[in-house]
Amino acid sequence: MPYPSSDQKDPESGLAGVTAGQTSICSLGETLRYRGYAVSDLVQCSFEEVAYLLLWGELPTAHQLEAFAARIQRAAQSMPQTIVCCFQKLAESSPQSSIMDVLRTGVSVLGQLECDNGPAESLYDRDLSQQRNKAEQLLGQVPALLTIWIDCLRGRKPSPWPNKPLATALLEKLCQTKVSDIAATVFNTTLILYAEHEFNASTFAARTVTSTGSDMHSAVTAAIGALKGPLHGGANEKVLHQLMDIGVPENIEPWLARKLNDHEVVMGFGHRVYKTGDIRANLLGDACHRLIHSDSSFEPHDKLEKLAHQLEKLMLEKKGLHPNLDWPAARVYHALGLPINLFTPLFVVARVSGWTSHIIEQMGTSRLIRPLAQYVGPSPRPYVAIKDR
Ligand code: COA
Repeated sequence: MPYPSSDQKDPESGLAGVTAGQTSICSLGETLRYRGYAVSDLVQCSFEEVAYLLLWGELPTAHQLEAFAARIQRAAQSMPQTIVCCFQKLAESSPQSSIMDVLRTGVSVLGQLECDNGPAESLYDRDLSQQRNKAEQLLGQVPALLTIWIDCLRGRKPSPWPNKPLATALLEKLCQTKVSDIAATVFNTTLILYAEHEFNASTFAARTVTSTGSDMHSAVTAAIGALKGPLHGGANEKVLHQLMDIGVPENIEPWLARKLNDHEVVMGFGHRVYKTGDIRANLLGDACHRLIHSDSSFEPHDKLEKLAHQLEKLMLEKKGLHPNLDWPAARVYHALGLPINLFTPLFVVARVSGWTSHIIEQMGTSRLIRPLAQYVGPSPRPYVAIKDR
C-alpha cells in the first residue's frame, strides 16, 4: 500500500491533531490510561477486570468481577440457534469469507434478533444500564461468533463455551487443546492492550453512528468495518505476511530499501498519535519475549523474533519510526499457533469493550457528529438539459 505523498496531505487531513470531542474513558497523555489507570498497571488484570473498568467506570470488587465474568460466560454459552444456522449456510456458500466479514454479519444478525432499536428518544428517559447489559452480552457473544464460525467451517457441531476466564476459554477453543498459564497470560495481555484507544478510526465510526440516535449493534457493525482496513486493525495480519516475505536476515536491508524507495507502508510501524513510541508495543514486546523464552517448544520462533528486532532497529535508523502494538501482537499470535486470518478478529473481540463504552458515553449526549468539508470541486456552472449534453 503506497503512503500518501506530502503534497496529498494538508496539515489537517485525516483530522490529524483535531480534538473531535470529549471522553472520560481513555487518555493518551504522558502514558496510555484507561479511566485514569496506566495500562502498564492494568496488564496484571484479567481482561474481564479491564472490560468492567471501561464499561462501568471503576475497577470491580471481587464479587462484582465474578458476577460480570459469569454474565459474559452465559452470553457466550447461549448463542441463538439462528446464528449457527446462518453460519452453517455461509460456511457452505462462502468458506473463503474474511472472518471480519463473518463478525460484522454476526453482530448485525444479533442486533436484528434482539430488535435493537437504540436508546429511548428522550435523553432524560435513557436507561444506560440497559445498554451496559447489551454491551456485556456482546463481550461474550463476539468471541463465541468466532469459534462458532470455525466449527461451522470444519463441519463440526459448535462445542460448548467453557466456564473459564475469557482469554483462556477462547485460546483453548481456538487451539483445540489446553493451554499453558504463560500462553493464556500473554494472550490476555494482548486483549487488554487492544481493548481501548480513544478516538481511533473504528471508535470514531461507532460514535458517529451512535450520534444519529442509532443502536449499539449498528454502531459495532460499523466499527468492525472500519477496523478491517490495513491501516487500522488489519495491520496485525500484514505484519506477519511481511516478516514471512522477508524470510531471512540478509533480505532485511534490500527489502526495506525497496519499500522506502517505492513509498510503501511498512506495517506495524508509525502511529497517528505516538511519534516517539507506543507504550503498548513495549509492554507486549516484553511479554512476547517472556513467552518465546518460557519453553523450548517456542524455539523455532526465535528466528522470527531476531528478524523482527533487526527490522525494528533499521526502521528507527532509516525513518525514525517506532513499532506500534500490531508489531508484537502479530508475533505473539503466531507463536501461540493461531492462523493469520484470526489476528484482526481477535482485535475485535478485545475492542468490543472499548467500542461499547464509547457508544454508551456517546448515548449520554444528544449532539450529532457532523463536520464540514472544504469544497474543492468545479466552480458554479449552469445546468445543461440531457438532450443538449
Ligand atoms: N511505513 C513507512 N513510512 C511511514 C510509516 C510506515 N508505516 N508510517 C509513517 N511513515 C512516514 C510517512 O511517509 C511520513 O513520511 P513523509 O513525512 O516523508 O511523508 C512520516 O512517516 C510521518 O507520517 P505521518 O503522516 O505523520 O503518519 P500518519 O499519522 O498519517 O499515519 C499510520 C499513521 C498508522 C496510518 C501510519 O503510520 C501507517 O500507515 N502505519 C502502518 C499501518 C499500521 O501499522 N497501522 C496500525 C496503527 S496502530
